[in-house]
Amino acid sequence: MSARSKKINNMAYGKLCLLLLILSGLSLTIHAKLSSNFYSSTCPNALTIVKQEIAKAIKIEARIGASLLRLHFHGCFVNGCDGSLLLDDTSTLLGEKTANANNNSVRGFEVVDNIKANLEKACPGVVSCADILAIAARDAVVYYGGPFWKVKLGRRDSLTANRSAANVFIPQPSFNLSNLTSSFATVCYKLYVVLGLCGHTVGFARCTSFRPHIYNDTNIDSAFAKSLQNTCPRSGNDNVLQPLDYQTRFRFDDKYYQNLLVKKGLLHSDQQLYNGNKADSLAKKYAMKQGDFFKDFAKSMIRMGNIKPLTGNNGQIRTNCRKPN
Ligand code: HEM
Ligand SMILES: *[C@@H]1O[C@H](CO)[C@@H](O)[C@H](O)[C@H]1NC(C)=O
Ligand SMILES: *[C@@H]1O[C@H](CO)[C@@H](O)[C@H](O)[C@H]1NC(C)=O
Ligand SMILES: *[C@@H]1O[C@H](CO)[C@@H](O)[C@H](O)[C@H]1NC(C)=O
Ligand SMILES: *[C@@H]1O[C@H](CO)[C@@H](O)[C@H](O)[C@H]1NC(C)=O
Ligand SMILES: *[C@@H]1O[C@H](CO)[C@@H](O)[C@H](O)[C@H]1NC(C)=O
Repeated sequence: MSARSKKINNMAYGKLCLLLLILSGLSLTIHAKLSSNFYSSTCPNALTIVKQEIAKAIKIEARIGASLLRLHFHGCFVNGCDGSLLLDDTSTLLGEKTANANNNSVRGFEVVDNIKANLEKACPGVVSCADILAIAARDAVVYYGGPFWKVKLGRRDSLTANRSAANVFIPQPSFNLSNLTSSFATVCYKLYVVLGLCGHTVGFARCTSFRPHIYNDTNIDSAFAKSLQNTCPRSGNDNVLQPLDYQTRFRFDDKYYQNLLVKKGLLHSDQQLYNGNKADSLAKKYAMKQGDFFKDFAKSMIRMGNIKPLTGNNGQIRTNCRKPN
């Protein structure tokens, strides 16, 4: 992509956020490249195939849908939704799987491989790995009882990955609200996007991710902190898992926000969304009105899926998500 079109792209995202109408024509042509019926003639069963495989995978392991949702997020936040996260390290390619936030943490690659293999059988060389992540994330959310949205499709896959970019652009659990807000600037500065997207309502975190919060922070319920300290000592047990939403770990709901209101967020970054600042009223709203959370989450996921997709002749459709063709 040329520097100029990159710039135009960035402007388009800014515009969406601010709802400036001036550039709307330009933005429409850019976003028209992704469409929800992109595969309807070239691979009519694509959506069904992904959905079936997601259901199968979650039945085998309840957590795997959460892991796939996170893959889409970590994919999109590093130079756009181009499937680069899925590339394995080689002697010439330092991949993103081993970036700080991902190493020993991201998972779900076998499910992606399996979906890809099925799609290659049905329609060889048609459905991108980047789109698989976008569809899988939506289907996982729906499976857990969350909102449905029409996934925009037509992304193509990158030929490269960038580990150092992953180290820069994936937000960290030590972040406070201002850090989180600037991390989300590529998607949108609006608070509802930050809060809606950060809803850790399903899945797990390792002791190493929440240790500073349960030992050093004061904005945490003390009994809650104590109980977590039992399995997550000051040192050791780094990989012991705890649910991000202690009430309903496999249910996509607004319990996460209710937890925040009683200071039972698992990560430092989670509790930042309700910590006596401008985010509080929104967190309260989501805690009380699950429908509002669902609506904003779905909208924000579409926005996230629009980050710098490769389209047209850019990139390729990988046959194996782990390596360029
Ligand atoms: C707000 C910024 C965010 C931060 C700082 C953050 C941080 C984290 C951390 C530290 C973990 C635990 C990883 C581990 O210990 O292995 C985690 C897990 C997870 N995150 Fe986030 N995250 C953020 C936003 C998001 C977003 C936007 C999504 C999806 C839309 C998401 C979905 C998930 C899911 C589903 C898990 C559980 C994965 C599993 O169980 O395998 N996170 N996140
Ligand atoms: C990833 O984790 C493994 C195992 O803990 C470690 O040996 C390796 O150095 C880590 N890779 C990077 C790039 O940090
Ligand atoms: C990778 O990302 C880093 C950090 O954003 C950037 O400085 C570097 O230029 C990127 N490398 C390539 C080859 O794009
Ligand atoms: C945010 O965190 C940084 C350190 O990462 C700290 O310097 C700053 O004071 C914090 N800001 C707020 C508002 O807590
Ligand atoms: C986090 O935000 C603080 C200001 O609140 C800033 O000083 C610090 O550099 C930021 N850290 C990161 C990693 O963005
Ligand atoms: C708590 O903070 C102290 C002082 O900054 C630091 O030395 C220690 O490593 C922190 N502990 C945890 C578990 O993060």
